[in-house]
Amino acid sequence: MIPKRIEKYCLRHTSVGSKLLRELEKYTRRHCDDPQMLIGPHEGALLAMLVRLSGARRILEIGTFTGYSALCMAEALPKNGKLISCELKPEHAKIARTFFKRSPHGNKIRIRLGPALETLAALPASARFDFVFIDADKENYVNYYKAVLPHLRPGGVIAADNVLWSGRVLAPKKKADRAVVKFNKHVHRDPRVECVMLPVRDGVSLIRKRLHRRA
Ligand SMILES: C[S@@+](CC[C@H](N)C(=O)[O-])C[C@H]1O[C@@H](n2cnc3c(N)ncnc32)[C@H](O)[C@@H]1O
Repeated sequence: MIPKRIEKYCLRHTSVGSKLLRELEKYTRRHCDDPQMLIGPHEGALLAMLVRLSGARRILEIGTFTGYSALCMAEALPKNGKLISCELKPEHAKIARTFFKRSPHGNKIRIRLGPALETLAALPASARFDFVFIDADKENYVNYYKAVLPHLRPGGVIAADNVLWSGRVLAPKKKADRAVVKFNKHVHRDPRVECVMLPVRDGVSLIRKRLHRRA
């Protein structure tokens, strides 16, 4: 949605992550179907910046794929930080784990294999996260949001990816298009949070849980 030249300019003036991240990106582009699912260095740097700015220690990710976004966030976590990443497909988790093993930050990450809604339902009621990244099947975005919000600490942030869905939110036709539109409306109407939608890559919404309910 943003002109390619402008995207390239932004990236040239952005602090990007490790060499291993570049290798993982190349590997994914060469060996995986749908490599465009990976968030890439610009959005990766945004997530890392948000993790550092928020001082997050406990992160939850929904949608590991080959582990790129998880590694971006893990690199920004403090030594004792922890990241749980949910992934449905064993073949994706296998690649991610191979790269996590090679990173000094990989020990912060645990992959939970299976449908993310089941993983979320199995979390203890006391589980708390400072930062959540939602980036899996669009049809479940509202369900993920509902399942995750009780576990987000007040002041904590959810980043939701693909909220512009290549612009299809303006003229939704397919089920996934309508699911993204529904998610965006749901969040915007929720008095428990405040939200800003950014036109970065395919659209990222930053959703902060309020400390107090709005009067
Ligand atoms: C867009 S990709 C994630 C990209 C990743 N965040 C990155 O930037 O590297 C979405 C991932 O969610 C996974 N996924 C889809 N449905 C899922 C579900 N119900 N539960 C858990 N993971 C799911 C897919 O297999 C895929 O690996």
